[in-house]
Amino acid sequence: MDTFSIRGGTPLYGELHIQGAKNAALPILAATVLAGGSYTLYDVPHLLDIEVMLKILTSLGVQCEHKNSTVHVDTSNLTSCYVPHDLMGQMRSSIFLMGPMLARCGEIILSRPGGCAIGERRINLHYKGLEALGATIIEEEGYIRCQAAQLKGNSIFLDYPSVGATENIMMAAVRAEGETIIYNAAREPEIIDLQNFLNQLGARIRGAGTDTIVISGTQHLYPAEYRIIPDRIVTGTMILASAITKGEVTLTNVEPKHLISLLDLTSQSGVEIESTHDIMKVKTKRNYRAIDRIVTAPYPGFPTDMQAQMMAFLSLAEGCSIMKETVFEGRFRHVTELNRLGADIQIDLNTAFIRGVSKLSGTTVEATDLRAGAALILAGLAAEGETRVTGAHHIDRGYDAIEHQLASLGARITRLTNDPLLSTGI
Ligand code: UD1
Repeated sequence: MDTFSIRGGTPLYGELHIQGAKNAALPILAATVLAGGSYTLYDVPHLLDIEVMLKILTSLGVQCEHKNSTVHVDTSNLTSCYVPHDLMGQMRSSIFLMGPMLARCGEIILSRPGGCAIGERRINLHYKGLEALGATIIEEEGYIRCQAAQLKGNSIFLDYPSVGATENIMMAAVRAEGETIIYNAAREPEIIDLQNFLNQLGARIRGAGTDTIVISGTQHLYPAEYRIIPDRIVTGTMILASAITKGEVTLTNVEPKHLISLLDLTSQSGVEIESTHDIMKVKTKRNYRAIDRIVTAPYPGFPTDMQAQMMAFLSLAEGCSIMKETVFEGRFRHVTELNRLGADIQIDLNTAFIRGVSKLSGTTVEATDLRAGAALILAGLAAEGETRVTGAHHIDRGYDAIEHQLASLGARITRLTNDPLLSTGI
């Protein structure tokens, strides 16, 4: 169990290359089982979640290699359709194997997925979509057995635009007989990336990025090379890291149009951001202002994955901000920890009231999930004295060596491996 130690108060300066998107890479890795053969994927970040996905693929018989930011996988020979329980429990995205394995092998056995503790995280819409395509899904003795002799296209309405369900259904429908239409589909940029990847294999999908996606099934799929899009949540986190320290940072390998809601809000608060093509310059000269009201929502709304980091940022703004979380019901566990650093945040049901304070003071806090951990790192970068953020493994699920990324911008952050002080409880 690693811990990050941060000595705050240093403005960040310099240039940072943003990693490829975790949430695009995970479904794309799962989709490589759709057509047997050899794939090369570029800009795949080194993250715990990616490691787990590669271990799951390996357990199914896939050959995997991850060097630098390039993944080679060979899915020619699948030897199993059973996802080991311990790997399933480590990451929610293991559920992405359902659609592609059903499409390729007609069967997959897995268990309920793990992942961040941010809410109930149901999978009923994944089931609804796959069953509409002809799959039989039976849960027994902790296992989920999915089978389908032949998937058949259908019209599917999603009660909520679930990102994962949209992706799972897209991957299954690619090899189904006939046409599938997903109504009320999620519109996230990662869905467009999955469409682009699948179409590169020979799939016939249109509409990703809108709420209606049409997939015409085909059996003619071939492996391909593909570059993953930049990670918009890491970009957003680094924008706020620059802003909360009142630094001046240039971010490269970014896609500004994926961050419209965040860019709008940060500019309202007084952060200067100049964007050109795939570069962003973030400058914060003086104290920044609170933001009246932010509501998390499916894309293009404000991302729930930026809620915790935004709260850390607003805890030092001038004035009071209100943040409402509508996507995940249990996503406020960072609030207690931010308050331990001196923030003034009150919660009422799914709404947080953030009264800006003039300073935060370092202490030991616990990362309870991935983005909560990122928020605590941001707070630590601005806090006086030393902040220790325990639970580094949560942060490693989504940020590729965050301590190196931030240290390259001048932050005083180090990783304490098995911190003896903490492990003895001192
Ligand atoms: C994906 C992202 C995650 C992000 C989330 C919302 C990946 C790997 N993860 O997660 O980082 O926070 O989108 O932007 O891409 N729901 C149901 N039934 C379902 C599925 C979802 O009720 O079958 C509900 C969930 O409980 C949640 C909401 O829908 O309240 C959003 O979930 P969803 O969009 O599915 O998120 P994920 O795909 O899990």
